[in-house]
Amino acid sequence: MSIDERLANTDFPLPTIRQVNNAKHHSSISLGLGELKDFPVDGQIIDAIQKSLLTDGANYTANAGLPALRTAIASKHQKVDGYTYSAENILITVGVQNALYAVIKTLAKLGAKRILIPEIYFGIYWKIPQDFGLQVITYPLIENFGIDLIALSNLLLPDDLVIINSPANPTGRVFTVQEQQELAAVLKSKLTQGYLISDEIYSQLIYEGEPAISFSAFFDRTLVLDGISKSSAAAGLRVGWIVTRNQKLAQAVTSNNATVISCPPTINQYAAIPVVQGLTKVTIEKYNAVLRQNRDVAINLLDKNHIPYIKPTGSFYLFPKISQLLNQSVKQFCLETASQPDGVVVIPGEAFGAPNYIRISLASLQIEEGMDRLIRCLKIK
Ligand SMILES: Cc1ncc(COP(=O)(O)O)c(C=O)c1O
Repeated sequence: MSIDERLANTDFPLPTIRQVNNAKHHSSISLGLGELKDFPVDGQIIDAIQKSLLTDGANYTANAGLPALRTAIASKHQKVDGYTYSAENILITVGVQNALYAVIKTLAKLGAKRILIPEIYFGIYWKIPQDFGLQVITYPLIENFGIDLIALSNLLLPDDLVIINSPANPTGRVFTVQEQQELAAVLKSKLTQGYLISDEIYSQLIYEGEPAISFSAFFDRTLVLDGISKSSAAAGLRVGWIVTRNQKLAQAVTSNNATVISCPPTINQYAAIPVVQGLTKVTIEKYNAVLRQNRDVAINLLDKNHIPYIKPTGSFYLFPKISQLLNQSVKQFCLETASQPDGVVVIPGEAFGAPNYIRISLASLQIEEGMDRLIRCLKIK
């Protein structure tokens, strides 16, 4: 079969999230956002962008990224877990999505065969490993969206890859320190040759309870993935990074990513420096205050209407189960409610491996009106 014949017979569908967003009627409210689009960007980020244009902002950086940013991340991370990091432990990427791609590509080349991901997962945890021929296995969660540690332990082989995500998309679940310690104990005894990939992209968006501690503080064989997309209302700047104690591995991932991106956009790397240095903390606190308020508005309406959910405390999502209220699939419901006049966009749980649920984004300044519309739509189904 020729390339053109294969192309004619192969579907490359849009991700479910995009399908639903594309169905949106112009008068619908979006509770489907995966970014803080309605929130102002901190002025220091904008200043850094402008200043970089007067210096070397239009030039390439090293494949691994801007030394000043890598050094800032190294010194921030050192304070978290006490290990002595340098720029050689850090790789800058084009968002966490690119970080995941680069890490999985590299580890697949190095012989990784299986990757364990949570049973409710961010979509690319499944898609990227498949592109590199890895077997994807889901590990079960318990009722409150925590990890079923016994089940995970029974699944684990010594050279597996494992992904964790806290605060989580789409559940809003944040690990407690005790849960981190218990998970680390399992990993220390079972994952002796593989790696843990800890997706910490929402690490600064915790609006209730203790701030996050990076998982690198609990388990040495951790690759930490973080960035500015979520916490800085700067998803479009596409800056992420990888932190690893293993410099040889950092160098291998850099080499494998250089063929894809050469280097991340220089101006945008400058924009991340004030975030890493903690200078935008006050702005992030303001975001968290709004997210908490929005969470409370949303769960209040769910309570009144007896719709079950687990209370989220981080990221900016709420993940209630609604299939029991419908006489159609949740995905169909989402497509219909998005496309109707005065409708609302919410994301079907199918996009995260949980078809009975919907993901509601709390990152909307129209949360109350959006929730009212959602409840109205649910009542007539
Ligand atoms: C859990 C999770 N990881 C990674 C990403 C991708 O982040 P980035 O925009 O930095 O590529 C997202 C974006 O939605 C996410 O929710």
